[in-house]
Amino acid sequence: MKRQHPETKAVHGAADMDKKNGPLATPIYQTSTFEVTDNDEQLRAAHTDRFYTRYGNPTNTVAEKTIAELEGVEAALTFASGMGAVTTTIMALLKSGDHIVAQRDIYGGVNKFLSQWLPKLGIETTFVDTTEYEQHERAMRPNTKLLYLESPTNPTLRVVDFKKVTALAKRHKLLSMMDATFGTPINQHPAEFGIDLIMHSGTKYLSGHSDLICGVVAGRRELMKRIWETRTTLGNCMDPHASWMLVRGLKTLAVRVARQNENAQRVAEFLSEHAKVRRVHYPFLKSHPQYGVAREQMSGGGGMVSFEIEGTGEDARRVSESMRLFTLAPSLGGVESLVSIPVLTSHAMISAEERARMGVTEQMIRLSVGIENADDLIADLALALAAVAAPQQVPVG
Ligand SMILES: Cc1ncc(COP(=O)(O)O)c(C=O)c1O
Repeated sequence: MKRQHPETKAVHGAADMDKKNGPLATPIYQTSTFEVTDNDEQLRAAHTDRFYTRYGNPTNTVAEKTIAELEGVEAALTFASGMGAVTTTIMALLKSGDHIVAQRDIYGGVNKFLSQWLPKLGIETTFVDTTEYEQHERAMRPNTKLLYLESPTNPTLRVVDFKKVTALAKRHKLLSMMDATFGTPINQHPAEFGIDLIMHSGTKYLSGHSDLICGVVAGRRELMKRIWETRTTLGNCMDPHASWMLVRGLKTLAVRVARQNENAQRVAEFLSEHAKVRRVHYPFLKSHPQYGVAREQMSGGGGMVSFEIEGTGEDARRVSESMRLFTLAPSLGGVESLVSIPVLTSHAMISAEERARMGVTEQMIRLSVGIENADDLIADLALALAAVAAPQQVPVG
């Protein structure tokens, strides 16, 4: 059959097309263990997804195969969370004495893991400005093993040039790992450019309904095997029920993301013309510093928009609290629109100095644009921004 498009892969993914007289929907294998007929079979089962659920589970396998299909790679693994995916992968592939070069503006939790936790294991990280590639080059050491990337970045929406970073990784014989949560496998395909490991917080777009926590890493089978061994040891596997929900969410990934791309583009354009807005960060706005690269390697700008308001951090808080359709909550990627203040949520755990270096300001508001009607979302934003424009009540007398 001709190579399928992402919309088709999302629906059919790992479904067995030859299967007859079975359930159409993927069953939940809600079991911790699997029965065998004899001990010879027990030995054979140990390396399959029918042995013990910490090692693997058939429902998890369907999710993993679907994601591998969508990313265009050999295999994928699911984890209990996005952070579980990052920490397990790095612990599986690196050892004491190794060095990482990482972008400065990445998800705060990963920044904390790299800067505060990994040094305890003797693994150091040098942070570099995301799109200053000569800084990446200068940061390389003989013991550098991993180039850690995120694109588009949370919450600054910077876009990494996939061709440049894969050339760099090749030149220095490094593994490259990219957090592609914001990009989704619908809008971008980092593996086509040669990124070795693609990671997602599956909590976000892949599941898409803000009702579960999970993580995913996808790439070559040989790398996945090493990560699988570490996952079984560290134990942060995904629960089969959550996996079943992920499989269900994946079926609508392409339509959700298409709508989110359209809505976010409209929201970004509206904000960029608003007098109370100083700056808007959205990859498909012509004013975006990496607009050209984004258009080249992404098929949609994504559902995330961040902006800085003309005013103070207090004003930003007031705007976020004045919204009615955008719900004040951390996280992103669900069908409903959310708003958050990165210095209080996704980047609260890192220092103010580091945040300043990343360009994460107190005036920054992050929007996860959902699948609602774009006019309604814009009306909500207009009202919230008007609340700030209103002069403060000064008591007289
Ligand atoms: C870009 C990005 N990567 C990783 C994570 C961590 O994922 P999880 O919360 O599923 O552990 C998040 C969570 O917000 C995120 O936004």
